[in-house]
Amino acid sequence: MNQTTRSYGLKQSTNSELSCNSLVFWETLVNPTRLVRALPQIRFQKQLSVPSKARAIMNSKPEQTTSVWMQGDRFSLLSALTQDDEADVCVVGAGIAGMTSAYLLLKEGRTVIVVDDGPIGGGQTERTTAHITNALDDRYMEIERWHGQEGARLAAESHTAAIDRIEEIINSEKIDCDFERLDGYLFTPIGESPNLLEQELQAVRRAGLSQVESILSCPLQNFDTGPCLRFPRQAQFHPRKYLAGLAKAILHMGGRIFTQTHIAKVESGTPARLRTEMGLTITAEAVIVATNSPFNDFVTIHTKQAPYLTYVLAFGVPRGQVTKALYWDTENPYHYVRLQPMPNDVPASAMLGNPLTEELLIVGGEDHKTGQADDAEARYDRLETWARARFPVNEGRRCHWSGQVLETIDGLAFIGRNPLDGPNVFIATGDSGQGMTHGTIAGILLTDLIVGRSNPWSQLYDPARKTLSASDRFLKENLNVAAQYGSWVTGGDVESSEAIAPGTGAVVRQGLTKVAAYRDEHGQLHECSAVCPHLGCIVQWNHNESTWDCPCHGSRFDKKGHLLCGPANTNLVQSTGLPDASVEFKAVSV
Ligand SMILES: Cc1cc2nc3c(=O)[nH]c(=O)nc-3n(C[C@H](O)[C@H](O)[C@H](O)COP(=O)(O)OP(=O)(O)OC[C@H]3O[C@@H](n4cnc5c(N)ncnc54)[C@H](O)[C@@H]3O)c2cc1C
Ligand code: FES
Repeated sequence: MNQTTRSYGLKQSTNSELSCNSLVFWETLVNPTRLVRALPQIRFQKQLSVPSKARAIMNSKPEQTTSVWMQGDRFSLLSALTQDDEADVCVVGAGIAGMTSAYLLLKEGRTVIVVDDGPIGGGQTERTTAHITNALDDRYMEIERWHGQEGARLAAESHTAAIDRIEEIINSEKIDCDFERLDGYLFTPIGESPNLLEQELQAVRRAGLSQVESILSCPLQNFDTGPCLRFPRQAQFHPRKYLAGLAKAILHMGGRIFTQTHIAKVESGTPARLRTEMGLTITAEAVIVATNSPFNDFVTIHTKQAPYLTYVLAFGVPRGQVTKALYWDTENPYHYVRLQPMPNDVPASAMLGNPLTEELLIVGGEDHKTGQADDAEARYDRLETWARARFPVNEGRRCHWSGQVLETIDGLAFIGRNPLDGPNVFIATGDSGQGMTHGTIAGILLTDLIVGRSNPWSQLYDPARKTLSASDRFLKENLNVAAQYGSWVTGGDVESSEAIAPGTGAVVRQGLTKVAAYRDEHGQLHECSAVCPHLGCIVQWNHNESTWDCPCHGSRFDKKGHLLCGPANTNLVQSTGLPDASVEFKAVSV
C-alpha cells in the first residue's frame, strides 16, 4: 500500500477503496472539525459500497441507551467487503478482543482482515466501564478453588501482563485515550464482616500479587468503607479512543478492516472459509471469532457460560473531591465505580456537564440474568441511592446505560481453539466484567497459538476445559436455562397485540407459538417470531433498551427483530413458528 506497509513485509490491500476510506476515517478521528467536511464523502462511499442486504444490520436501531463513550464523536463506518478476499488471518469482531488480536498478529508479520457487521467497537466495548484490573471479579479464593494455586497464579500473571500490554501499546502507538495507572480498592458492604477480605488477601498473595495490601479504609472523604484491599497499578482508559488508536495502527500496518459485513458461516479447513451473508468468501489460514459470544460454537461453550445484564449510571461530582481510583465492593452482584474527566468536545460536555468544575463518577451494578427481569428503572434507582449515600454526587443523572457480560462457570474466559472445530478456528468469549484484560489476553494468547509459539496460559483459558470443581455452577446455570423453555406453554405478556402501547413491545401467544410484537410510535405493529433462532427459547421484551432478549444464552435483537448479538446469528424470523435452521441470515425490511 505504501512505505509503511512494505516495511512490515505485508501483502498489499486488494480493496481499492481502502486507502480512501482509511484516510477519511482517520481524518475524522484525529480532527473532529474535519468530520463535517468528510461527511459527503462517507455518505457517498456508503452508497457505493454497502450491499443491500447488509442494510438491515447497518440500519438496525440497537439499544436505546448510550454510554459515556458514545457521546460526541463516533466512529465513522469503513466500507463493507465488496469482493472475495484472503489473508493469513481473518478476525471476526472489531471489539477489544478482535482489534487487539489483529494488531498483535500484524506485528508478527501476518496479513489480517478484520470484519464487523457494525462499526468498530460497536458491541459491548462501547458499553464497558473500562476498569483495567487484575483484581478478578470472582475473587482469587474461588479461582484457586476452580483452577488450583498454579491456575490462580497464571490468572494473576496474565491479567497483570494484559494491563502492561495495553500500556505498552498506548505508549508505542501514542494513543491519546485518557489512560491512567491508579489504585483499585475492594471493600465489603456496610455491616459485613471483613473476614472475606482477609481470606482474599491470602489468596491474592498466593497468586503472586505481593503488592496488594490491606488498609483501614478506602481514600474517600465522605464514605468510611471500613477495611479494604488496595490493588496497586491498575488502570483505566477511554475504550473508544483506545480502539481508535488500535484501528489507526492496524490500517497503518496494512491490515484491512471491513465494517457492515456480517459473517454468516465459518468453515474450518485449509484454508478456512468465511461466508458473508452477501455470499462473499474470505479465505484465511486461521480464523478468530471475537464476537463476544461465538456464533460458530452452537452449544458447547454456551452451556459453560451465562449472560447477565448490568446497569451503569454516570453523575457529575465536584472536581477533585473523589480520589481517583477504581472501587469495587463484594456484594453479589457487586458495585463498580470509577471517575472519568468530562469530555472536552462541546456537544458531549454540554450533554454531560461542566468540564471545568466537574468530573464524571461512573457507578455500575444491579446485574441480573439477561431476559429474566424487566425492571431497569428500579435497578437504576437503587444504584443512584447507593451512589448518593457514598459519594458527593451533583444533581441529576448524566448518562445511564446497560450492557451484557458473559460469566463463565469457573471465572475465567474461554480463549483458544474452538472445541469440536478445525484446529485453525479460534474463539474468545466469557469475559465476565473483565473484557479489557481478557480481550487483551486473547490478543496475546491467540497470536502465540497462530504463530506456533507456546504460551503458559493456553491450558488455563482452553475453551475445551472441564472444571469439575465448578460443576455446582454448571448445574445451576443449565437448570436455569432448562426452566426458560417453560415459557413455551405459558400465556403471552398481554392477551392480544391491541393491548400494546405505542413505543413498546410484548410477547403475544398465537396458537401453539409466540410472537414478539412491537408497536412503533406511529401505532404501526411489527411482528416477528418470539422463538430465538439459536436454540428455540422465547425472547423477552426489555423496556429499558427496547430490545428482545433471550433468557437462555443471551442473544439479543432490536425492537424489529434484527440481530444485535449472538450466539444466534440470524434475525428473529418474520413469520411465526420455529425458525428455519437452513436460513443463514434473514434481512427483515425496516
Ligand atoms: C456495562 C458493562 C461494564 C463493563 N465493565 C467492564 C470493566 O470495567 N472492565 C472490563 O474489563 N470489562 C468490562 N466489561 C466487559 C467488557 O466491556 C466486554 O467484555 C468487552 O468489551 C468485550 O469485548 P469483545 O471484543 O469480546 O466484544 P464486543 O466489543 O462485543 O465486540 C464484538 C463485535 O463482534 C461483532 N459481531 C458479532 N457477530 C458478528 C458477525 N456474525 N459478523 C460480523 N461481526 C460480528 C459485533 O458487531 C461487535 O462489534 C463491561 C461490560 C459491560 C456491558
Ligand atoms: S440464545 Fe440460545 S436459545 Fe436464545
